[in-house]
Amino acid sequence: MFMFDIAGGGDKAALYRDLGRALDALTADEPDAIANMANAAALLWEYLPELNWAGFYRVDPRRADELVLGPFQGKAACIRIAFGKGVCGAAAVTGTTQRIADVHAFPGHIACDAASASELVVPIMVAGRLFGVLDLDSPVPGRFDAADQAGCEALVAMLGPRIAG
Ligand code: SME
Repeated sequence: MFMFDIAGGGDKAALYRDLGRALDALTADEPDAIANMANAAALLWEYLPELNWAGFYRVDPRRADELVLGPFQGKAACIRIAFGKGVCGAAAVTGTTQRIADVHAFPGHIACDAASASELVVPIMVAGRLFGVLDLDSPVPGRFDAADQAGCEALVAMLGPRIAG
């Protein structure tokens, strides 16, 4: 059993600092990409409040223009997302984080879970190539702020080389 000391109380800088330490400890010595994505999804799901989905979509190695579902926590989700479709596809095509306060106002948003109201999608770039995206969904409108974006981008920067092997 793993024991983590993760800051609560609404201090997001402390929360993401502690999540970074925990994720580093979980993944540093493990070369298996699926194991590392699975533990990352579980960690984010447990410690980030007000989520209804947390997980990964990867660039399909058989089809370079499509994302395919990876390890996640939450309800069963859409399996494939074409580049350019939905929030995840926008992150994949642009290579930039998509922080969407109201997914219903986002053209082409893909509703895997009708409860989703806001979404944060961080592209995962490794050695200059897109590996996939980290996708977080929330039933709370405007759930993700700049601190969440910065925190998740830092987590992804560390995790990327450990899941792209
Ligand atoms: N809402 C996403 C699809 C993935 S699910 O949220 C898990 C999108 O629009 O890309």
